[in-house]
Amino acid sequence: MITSLKFTGFFFLFVLLSGCGTPPSDPASDTPTSTTADPASDTFRQEARALTKSFAESLKAELSAAMTEGGPALAIPVCSDKAPALAADASANGLTIRRIGTRVRNTATNTPTDAERAVLERLTDQSPEFVGELDGSLTFMRAIFIQEAVCLNCHGSPDILHPEAPPLLAELYPDDTATGYALGDKRGAFVVKRSSPLPDPQ
Ligand code: HEC
Repeated sequence: MITSLKFTGFFFLFVLLSGCGTPPSDPASDTPTSTTADPASDTFRQEARALTKSFAESLKAELSAAMTEGGPALAIPVCSDKAPALAADASANGLTIRRIGTRVRNTATNTPTDAERAVLERLTDQSPEFVGELDGSLTFMRAIFIQEAVCLNCHGSPDILHPEAPPLLAELYPDDTATGYALGDKRGAFVVKRSSPLPDPQ
């Protein structure tokens, strides 16, 4: 009896662990804008997709919970502090992740390089991904669209912005240009880069 309980427990744990490693099944991500025959790039693409998905999901969950609980006063710090912290945690595994904007709120960290901007302009909802060499490193980009009304509280046009948002944003981000967006607009992209050199091919 004890043995069989232990066995069941072990099996359950195994199922849980394999569930954590399941690759993202977003159908849109199966239509990349660039393909490579290089296995190192394919591995990178898979890792970058998984990282982007988990970063996006944690951020969105925390953001929505904070908006519901305390409005922009609670939710803005999620974006200003939590997003860089989550990105820094994720960066420990040899990959760095950050967000860039078509217009930018945090101009210190989220301004695209010229090469990133050129790619960002080409990404569409039909073809939201890029993998290739940018600024000397293997780079993955995935476009971010305004898909939910919650985003407009802090990125919408002046009549739609949450009334508490503008003064709080002005204080933190004096150069903010990331407002005036509508549902469906391209807001920016996740940018993943390999922070350590590529491993030698086996
Ligand atoms: C509570 C206010 C708030 C809400 C709601 C919000 N954002 Fe933001 N957003 C911010 C702040 C603050 C920053 C700057 C973060 C930083 O300092 O890196 C930001 C930055 C960004 C950036 C990085 C580029 C830039 O301009 O700095 C993207 C992309 C972005 N937001 C997309 C979204 C999307 C998509 C949604 C909806 C799911 C959303 N945001 C909802 C406040 C918000």
